[in-house]
Amino acid sequence: MKILVTGGAGFIGSHTLVQLLRAGHEVIVYDSFANSKPQVLDQVKLLTSKDFPSIKGDLLERDLLNKTFAEHRPDAVIHFAGLKAVGESVEKPLDYYQNNVTGTLELLTAMETHGCHNIVFSSSATVYGTPKYLPYDEEHPLSPESPYGRTKFFVEKIIEDWTISNPQASAILLRYFNPVGADDSALIGEDPSGIPNNLVPYIAQVASGVLPHLQVLGDDYETRDGTGERDYVHVVDLAAAHLAAINYATSQTGCDAINIGTGTSITVMEFLKAFEKTVGKPLPYKIKPRRSGDVAKMEAKVDKAKALLQWESERNLENMCETTWRWQRYKMSSN
Ligand code: WQD
Repeated sequence: MKILVTGGAGFIGSHTLVQLLRAGHEVIVYDSFANSKPQVLDQVKLLTSKDFPSIKGDLLERDLLNKTFAEHRPDAVIHFAGLKAVGESVEKPLDYYQNNVTGTLELLTAMETHGCHNIVFSSSATVYGTPKYLPYDEEHPLSPESPYGRTKFFVEKIIEDWTISNPQASAILLRYFNPVGADDSALIGEDPSGIPNNLVPYIAQVASGVLPHLQVLGDDYETRDGTGERDYVHVVDLAAAHLAAINYATSQTGCDAINIGTGTSITVMEFLKAFEKTVGKPLPYKIKPRRSGDVAKMEAKVDKAKALLQWESERNLENMCETTWRWQRYKMSSN
């Protein structure tokens, strides 16, 4: 199958390209490189010994997007491209609605124009908001609490309405929990610019001496040890879920949301201790007040992924730490 991957040079996009190429699919990458580096695609080509075209473009560039569809005629789209920092979305909501929502409208319109009916969308568990119950299943009410989360919610609804209007259309909305880790080769991984917002790249930078200590954002939550609990899923497992989802999407029509997590949760301190074991030394931390907008615990119900995609996570906490650490050291050595 020929698959257009928007945002293919990103953290999850690049790991998904590896899975798609190794499965024999053809890919075309469409990426503005606003939040990623073109060199990542060279690493994917090295990893897979496969070549593929990439177009430097923004989804808002309507002519370029249509030219890409006309030239490559993809059978399906995996849509990663979008802004994704919760805090930044509060400061710049219009940028987020423009990029994430209007960008997706442009993408769906181009798909309609060029007869492409299948899409897998990179959604997020953030659409659930504060839990009414746990683990979150896909029927849990949606009440996102940030402009970023609301863009994911609105795009889910837009895609759903599109599939209702187009009987040939098929869409899978993957609601990721917390993606972490890196490819075993350490050639690709999470590469946030500036000081990481997310826990795991932050811990990796403490371990490599780039940052002085971890700030544990709250230790008074109703959790096992008072620190935040999250459902961390290895990015290689998450990438495999996209391969399963695109195969499933092209075998049915309609729209389905599916959680992608492990079904278990780990606290901040548990992750820190596991990382200390991997690096073989204690890692400094300081307890700080809670971060506004954080919830105590997030955990995925993952029965639907198993039933519909025959997918479940395979990698454990130790591998999440090991692959993250290997990638961090590779990054340090190549800088
Ligand atoms: C995890 C835990 C923090 C940093 C976010 C987005 C979500 C998704 C994944 C895009 C929490 C604690 C964190 C730090 C800490 N992204 N923490 N010190 O907030 O669960 O989810 O990333 O789709 O939309 O909201 O991930 O890694 O920021 O935090 O103690 O320096 O680690 O309080 O309990 P989060 P995170």
